[in-house]
Amino acid sequence: MIIKKGDMMVEKIKTGISGLDQILKGGLRKNSSILITGAPGTGKTIMALQFIYYGAKKYNENGIFIATEESLSDLRANAKNFNMDFESMEKKGKIFLVEKPLTTLKGGIASITGLLDLIKKKNIKRVALDSLIFFEYLYPRHDGNTIEFRRQVMMFIQKMKKAGVTFLVSSERKVTDLDRLEYEMMDFVFEGFIILSRVRKGSYFERILTVAKIRGQDHSLDVYPITIDNKGLRILYDQVPFSLVEKEEEKQEFK
Ligand SMILES: Nc1ncnc2c1ncn2[C@@H]1O[C@H](COP(=O)(O)OP(=O)(O)O)[C@@H](O)[C@H]1O
Ligand SMILES: [Mg+2]
Repeated sequence: MIIKKGDMMVEKIKTGISGLDQILKGGLRKNSSILITGAPGTGKTIMALQFIYYGAKKYNENGIFIATEESLSDLRANAKNFNMDFESMEKKGKIFLVEKPLTTLKGGIASITGLLDLIKKKNIKRVALDSLIFFEYLYPRHDGNTIEFRRQVMMFIQKMKKAGVTFLVSSERKVTDLDRLEYEMMDFVFEGFIILSRVRKGSYFERILTVAKIRGQDHSLDVYPITIDNKGLRILYDQVPFSLVEKEEEKQEFK
């Protein structure tokens, strides 16, 4: 789909993540780089899996999923719980699961030539990296390597851009209050930045998503509830999180 935006033609792709394309007003800009951040258990891996799986299955865009934290067999089993049959797509040569155990990353960035070859040979259009810890291990930020870390991530993003893929990366971060979110360096390196979080209301946690920014693309800034069940992760793009609604009401009462 091509959407005219000023003088610029923006070609968008469907993410394959239910509800997200509505929030993004048609989908993600093709060939962009997106960071999904949130605490453990907020749904980052499921989103990344859906991006790759439905990208290949529904939109005919071949994909590579790079796992650093879970074994490939765990991922396949996990995906099956959400009704995604990775194995059949792998057999068709439409999806490639790549394992990058942290202990074998010694080759550093040089070792991505294999990845670039695969992208070319298999006509890959989407790459998901789960997660940014891949780079943190190579260039630990807390060892005074911040600049090198940033440089390497930027180089990787540039390589993905040049290779013509849309690139989604997950990263772990505790988000407790969306109003007081502190922006990290990484948020500026990527073109898009999506936050997953949980909001507590009494003894209940509600899952939420917000699109913090997408460079060069119009999108909604609202906060949306999300659900995870055996069909996967869905963003309820036409609903307002009840936890936030009640917060607003409380504020008004005390005016
Ligand atoms: N079958 C299921 N039904 C509902 N929720 C599930 C199911 N399987 C896993 N979950 C939830 O999904 C979350 C894990 O998502 P995941 O994408 O692995 O998180 P992250 O990668 O952000 O750590 C957990 O919070 C878990 O409660
Ligand atoms: Mg994960």
